Amino acid sequence: MTRLRVAVLASGRGSNLQALIDARERGDLPIDLVAVGSDRPNCEALARAQRHGLAGFALRPRDFPDRASFDRALFERLAEHRPALIVLAGFMRILDDEPVAAWTGRMINIHPSLLPDYPGLGTHARALAAGDAEHGASVHYVIPALDSGPVIAQARIGIVAGDTPESLAQRLFRREHALLVASVRLIAEGRIALTPAGVQFDGATLDRPLQLSDDDELA
Ligand code: GRF
Repeated sequence: MTRLRVAVLASGRGSNLQALIDARERGDLPIDLVAVGSDRPNCEALARAQRHGLAGFALRPRDFPDRASFDRALFERLAEHRPALIVLAGFMRILDDEPVAAWTGRMINIHPSLLPDYPGLGTHARALAAGDAEHGASVHYVIPALDSGPVIAQARIGIVAGDTPESLAQRLFRREHALLVASVRLIAEGRIALTPAGVQFDGATLDRPLQLSDDDELA
């Protein structure tokens, strides 16, 4: 089977990157991780890339006059590795519209909320403050508006008495990792695509995001 060429952008711990690496090394994910790019030279995500022999690079925003020129350089570096898909996995910068438009349908993000609820930061605390019964994570196509693109798939967890932002984050991380791996697998298998009508799954337009089951399958 041809393997999907995937590049990852990350700024921090890189646990979602690690989930992709592990699934691929287990033979569970038909992708090649062709590059890991970052805006933070010392982040744990780049260290993980290095430990696993992946091409990694960082560009520092302060070395560029503005967002547009940083993003242009970043996406030029990524393009050298000829990715078919770019995964934003904890990339903590807002992207310029130009690269986002150029990569529409070929760039996804994982966000720790049940979108369209809680785009942006502080999602765990916001779900708690609202008294929500459920929280979760979403994988979506990236469009110029922040955390607002068509949602491919979601994982849900219940909120229980005594939960804190930290306990929610911890419980959600395990589901996030499975969600990202399962979503990238469907894209690699050619079963998910973005069309003008919305997200297509096995040729039919989704009217709601796919949901991650307890055994980590998407349906
Ligand atoms: C995750 O919560 C992800 O949903 C969000 O940023 C965090 C990244 O965590 N976009 P990690 O760097 O993958 O550990």
